[in-house]
Amino acid sequence: MDNVDALRAELLAEVEQAGTLDALEQVRITALGKKGRITERMKALGGLDPDARRAAGQTLNAVKDAVSEALEDRRAALGDAALNARLARERIDVSLPARPEARGRIHPITQTIDELTAIFCEMGFTVAEGPDIETDYYNFEALNFPPEHPARQDHDTFYLQPDAEGRRKVLRTHTSPVQVRTMETTTPPIRIIVPGRTFRSDHDATHSPMFHQVEGLVIDKKTHMGHLKGCLIDFCRAFFGIDDLPVRFRPSYFPFTEPSAEVDIGCSRKGGGLTIGAGDDWLEILGSGMVHPNVLRYAGIDPAEYQGFAFGMGIERIAMLKYGIPDLRPFYDTDLRWLRHYGFVPIAQPTVAGGL
Ligand code: PHE
Repeated sequence: MDNVDALRAELLAEVEQAGTLDALEQVRITALGKKGRITERMKALGGLDPDARRAAGQTLNAVKDAVSEALEDRRAALGDAALNARLARERIDVSLPARPEARGRIHPITQTIDELTAIFCEMGFTVAEGPDIETDYYNFEALNFPPEHPARQDHDTFYLQPDAEGRRKVLRTHTSPVQVRTMETTTPPIRIIVPGRTFRSDHDATHSPMFHQVEGLVIDKKTHMGHLKGCLIDFCRAFFGIDDLPVRFRPSYFPFTEPSAEVDIGCSRKGGGLTIGAGDDWLEILGSGMVHPNVLRYAGIDPAEYQGFAFGMGIERIAMLKYGIPDLRPFYDTDLRWLRHYGFVPIAQPTVAGGL
């Protein structure tokens, strides 16, 4: 009897000490399994005489019941503890923001390209590209710059080392060469914009030797100056978000357009600052014109059948105007403080419908 009491105490202690459901299962097996300590003793009852067997059987059954009950209680407790631990571990605070705010920023150049792409794509333009390293032919000659023409000097061109035949490639001084490249390979109608890098040997607060332009080209049978004006007025107003922004076309000269016009937008310089919109002053933002018949001819398009317009503008310049960025140089400094200040949150994709 004594050792049955001891067994009971021992098993109940083991049950109490089991720290996990697995450990508890081991305790159950050692006590009540096929070869468990209680089971073995039950089997041994067969060797006793009937009275002793009844008495011992009752005692053993009581131990068995007590251990079973303890196992059950312990299993419930451990199960609750495991569930509570899991609930604590997987707890979600639904009042927190879905994600921590992204720390990376979209560079104002990229943002501006995305914005103007959204505007022109809405009008039916697609995006084209061309190489940064150009031949003299595409950068100048096919754009109707005669050899030795002074306008070539205006561009402060970076030349590469001459090749075996003495020909020097250039870092394109504008995106206009892509006009010719596109017309050579595309049958009109053509409606493209060409955002990209351009290079001129010039460096101060408003000029960088590497900068960005966006070119535009429209070629069709009856495209005329009215289309040029409508397209660029709509663009300026959409880009700056000012419905009644004054836009002025001023006669100008480019070898590759005739007639040519520079485009100014209205602004005010009262009080020292610069405000875009109605005012008594003007600010030049882009060059444009009707594609010169010679350029169409160079590109293999018949000027008797097709005509169109082109425009080009500096991306840094319109970004600085729109976002009030005073100095051009930090655009290329990769200074995180500048980027955090002037950059854009990545998920805020520019769309015409969503507002720019
Ligand atoms: N390529 C000219 C520049 O860099 C801009 C321009 C493009 C003007 C297309 C007219 C037509 O200044």
